[in-house]
Amino acid sequence: MYEGIGRATALVLARRGAKVAINDLDREKAEKLAKEIRSFQGEAEVFCGNVLEEAFPQLLVSSVLQKWGKINCLINNAGMSIFQREGNDEILTFWEAFVTIVQFTKWTMTNSISL
Ligand SMILES: NC(=O)c1ccc[n+]([C@@H]2O[C@H](COP(=O)([O-])OP(=O)(O)OC[C@H]3O[C@@H](n4cnc5c(N)ncnc54)[C@H](O)[C@@H]3O)[C@@H](O)[C@H]2O)c1
Repeated sequence: MYEGIGRATALVLARRGAKVAINDLDREKAEKLAKEIRSFQGEAEVFCGNVLEEAFPQLLVSSVLQKWGKINCLINNAGMSIFQREGNDEILTFWEAFVTIVQFTKWTMTNSISL
């Protein structure tokens, strides 16, 4: 519940013939999804890293372009849920992290692709 938009989108696109580049902080999770896509002869590659690190969005885009030559579609879903807030997390700190990942990466990722 309240998770899995990226995973579900990757599966739908792969089933329709898209080559899917998967990024996540969690390599194990990303590799598991790539394996699932390959199980129905879909094409997927894992490019893990932190989209909040300044140099990473451009590196991610370059790596995908090197592999497949073009990018048709960006699913920009890296994020976190309010339900991940631990009881003793300070609300403002949590809110800043939430807003940063949800909003800042929309700009850095789309900017990297359009360069
Ligand atoms: N699933 C829902 O019902 C729902 C509803 C409303 C809003 N949202 C929001 O949509 C976004 C995506 O939802 P989802 O269901 O795909 O969530 P999800 O938890 O399934 O996937 C988000 C992924 O982003 C990754 N991630 C977090 N920070 C990262 C970083 N800095 N670099 C790279 N990867 C990072 C996480 O490891 C996680 O696997 C979230 O921000 C969520 O709050 C989801």
